[in-house]
Amino acid sequence: MAQQKIPTVRLRSGVAVPRIGLGTWPLTGSEGVEAVASALDLGYRLLDTAENYRNEDAVGQAVRESSVPRENIVVTTKFNKEWHSIDGVREVLSRSLDALGLDYVDILLIHWPNPGHGRYVHAFEGMLAVQEDGLVRSVGTSNFLPTHLDVLASEGYIPEINQIQLDPLRPRNDVVAYMRENGIVGECWSPLGKAQGELLEREELQAVADAHGVTPAQVVLRWEIQRGLVPIPKSASRERQAENLDVFGFELSEEEMQAVDSLEDPQAKIDDPDRFGH
Ligand SMILES: NC(=O)c1ccc[n+]([C@@H]2O[C@H](COP(=O)([O-])OP(=O)(O)OC[C@H]3O[C@@H](n4cnc5c(N)ncnc54)[C@H](OP(=O)(O)O)[C@@H]3O)[C@@H](O)[C@H]2O)c1
Repeated sequence: MAQQKIPTVRLRSGVAVPRIGLGTWPLTGSEGVEAVASALDLGYRLLDTAENYRNEDAVGQAVRESSVPRENIVVTTKFNKEWHSIDGVREVLSRSLDALGLDYVDILLIHWPNPGHGRYVHAFEGMLAVQEDGLVRSVGTSNFLPTHLDVLASEGYIPEINQIQLDPLRPRNDVVAYMRENGIVGECWSPLGKAQGELLEREELQAVADAHGVTPAQVVLRWEIQRGLVPIPKSASRERQAENLDVFGFELSEEEMQAVDSLEDPQAKIDDPDRFGH
């Protein structure tokens, strides 16, 4: 299959981030290696892993064994709250690099703010220190709400990227507006709503999909990309990986964007970063 050329968005540090990436949770072991190898072969160049997924070894192995040059791949990892300190970030990054078998990561994220723990500003300072050391190219957050981003901003820190739970049922308009206003690139996790429930079967999505000869999942990913976001769908299937990547050959009209907007469900559960985190 011919490789897709993926458009990119540039972070403040200069890192060019592909407009779609591969989520890797909960792929581990040989399944993880095979899924990432398949994705790289198809043209994925953005990979999302985390200390918490226990699969940095598999992701790193696939990167190291790939014929794609390391510098053409954007590797993201994240760390847990126990490392929210300057020394902690240095230690966990060293562990992540060992597990990955790599010399640097492209994007390092604070996985959850854990405001009850009260140390995410220190975590951010730790990331800046390892960025200064050249071990990390860009730094960001995950699951940060405007209230948490405001605290960072009051200390003079603005993440380059913030990864949040987002899909058409959960458009997160407030967080997206905040990120846009502050030059923070928004990444969406569970961009297909975990393909659970009825989201991908909604007739509104099917109608748009039929108009473009694509699938409902492709419509959802395209809607996110047209909102300026970077979705990171997970798939272990090469066929669905290819489908998810193939979203740059069509464009949703204003009306079609609104049809997807209309799926918003205020009752849809969003993991609350003030209560949940690791
Ligand atoms: N920052 C955070 O706190 C956080 C939290 C959760 C997740 N994440 C990241 O976000 C990534 C994606 O989130 P997610 O895995 O929860 O949800 P998701 O990507 O929305 O959905 C994944 C599910 O959708 C299926 N799928 C993939 N492509 C499909 C398609 N074209 N049509 C139908 N079904 C499809 C997958 O099955 P198959 O594998 O069988 O294709 C899998 O069951 C994770 O892998 C992880 O890297 C981050």
